[in-house]
Amino acid sequence: MSLGDQNDNPVEEHECFHEDGSRVVYLPVTNRIADRKIRTQAIISELIASDGGERILDIGGNEYQSFCQEQGIEYTMLNLASPQRTGTGGYHGGGMTYDGRTLPFPAGETFDLVILNFVLHHAAENALPILRQVKEIAARYVLIGEDLTGIDYAASWHDRNHKHQPGGVFRSDQEWRLLLSMFGLPVLRQYVIRREDDVDPGRVYRCMYLCSVD
Ligand SMILES: C[S@@+](CC[C@H](N)C(=O)[O-])C[C@H]1O[C@@H](n2cnc3c(N)ncnc32)[C@H](O)[C@@H]1O
Repeated sequence: MSLGDQNDNPVEEHECFHEDGSRVVYLPVTNRIADRKIRTQAIISELIASDGGERILDIGGNEYQSFCQEQGIEYTMLNLASPQRTGTGGYHGGGMTYDGRTLPFPAGETFDLVILNFVLHHAAENALPILRQVKEIAARYVLIGEDLTGIDYAASWHDRNHKHQPGGVFRSDQEWRLLLSMFGLPVLRQYVIRREDDVDPGRVYRCMYLCSVD
């Protein structure tokens, strides 16, 4: 199956499998950003037992603070010290801060789940060093959200990406899957995010990769 071969796919949620056996979940078509948050909460609940002893690190995000508190999960937020000066990504801070490249945790400190949702394309010079360090501090899972692209995507999507993060690095699905496995973070499951304003419903513009730690 090639990701995006979905011309006959319904707008409702459905699933299929990559050749390597990993599962692809096509989320329902929606424009509600809250749906992604609800889905991520469901992933967190599924992965992390709510016994008060589990730890999550959210790099570049702050969306799951109250949810984790309710579930008895320790939730650590890490972001740049100040908002980026360019682009439309916004600033989802409020927790720890760092220089954007070197994670500020002592050797041996780990988190059960590290979330990097829609962050790495903003960190053009730092994405690979961050991934390498995430592999070291993630004990069980890593969840990575990304905006996808390719040279055959519509020019309007390239324009959107440039406005979203001038100088950002946007990759294809194939590139992300290979990169993640090269970093020892093979994809277990992929969630395809589909929006009503997707330029071409047959293509994938955004997705989340749930990775295990080798
Ligand atoms: C589009 S927002 C994503 C927010 C949230 N994770 C979500 O899923 O909605 C991008 C975030 O990445 C942060 N960011 C950019 N470069 C970063 C870096 N090198 N390290 C950590 N966070 C970074 C920005 O400050 C912003 O909070």
